[in-house]
Amino acid sequence: MSKFSCWVTPLNCRTIEPLYANQSIEYEDFPCAIDVIGPLLYTLFQERWQDTQIGHVVEGSVLELELTQPPKICILYDGYLTVATEAWHLHLCIEEHLGGPLCKTPPELRQQRAIHRAAFYRRLNENGQARSWGIQFWNGIGEKMMNLFLPNPFLGEDEDLLPERKPRLDKLSLYEELREIYVLGIRPIPFNCNPLKRPYISVCRSSRCYPSRNWKPIYEALQQAVDEAGIDVTVMSAGCLEVCKLGAVVFYSGDRTWYTRVTPDVARQIVNEHLVNGLKVNKHLYP
Ligand code: FES
Repeated sequence: MSKFSCWVTPLNCRTIEPLYANQSIEYEDFPCAIDVIGPLLYTLFQERWQDTQIGHVVEGSVLELELTQPPKICILYDGYLTVATEAWHLHLCIEEHLGGPLCKTPPELRQQRAIHRAAFYRRLNENGQARSWGIQFWNGIGEKMMNLFLPNPFLGEDEDLLPERKPRLDKLSLYEELREIYVLGIRPIPFNCNPLKRPYISVCRSSRCYPSRNWKPIYEALQQAVDEAGIDVTVMSAGCLEVCKLGAVVFYSGDRTWYTRVTPDVARQIVNEHLVNGLKVNKHLYP
């Protein structure tokens, strides 16, 4: 694993693409390495969720979603970032998706799915004046993935257009701050490690792999053991961990390990032997 750096090396890549009616869109690319994209997305979804809208824009179709409260989940699992609210959730492939414990995803699909290009954008009117601001992602075959809309100084509450000469320019501060960090590299990333790479241990709640669905004692045993060991690992539950048999299934993100047939006793053993001492509990490893 490469060492985390707080400084982004600028790509110095600015392009302008023409749109209809003499409008255009300006892109400023930035590196899409996981240690760059991860802190950026964590900031937007966990810390600045009030200022972030998720979108998908292609000709003939626009989707815009708001967060009305902090997300319930913001987690990286097998290359995919999952952000879940009470009402909707999204998955975005931000690093190689291997395909679960059996690494089922073919290499060409892994290449296709992950973000391969990322850029801050400004949509410009026919006079070259910026009218909207955001971040766009592309996958490995150049298709547009979702984009993020950043605060727009021309819009008030409920998306109403403010009078032409009365924009709220203070709303551009998030765009400007993030651009200085991720495009220009003149401010440091405000983390000393990738926040999406903080380790977690998760137990599957689904009945497909564990018909009794009695996962709570396992969750509690994991939590108690983690607390007693005093280690910085988050304990979670998940909908599916791609094993789907031999439950209960537990996944440790720190070194991408799956366990099956986990009982509360085994859960404690996993924490004390693997998470604390680095020795995997071989009898319960999967595969
Ligand atoms: S349903 Fe439990 S791992 Fe898939």
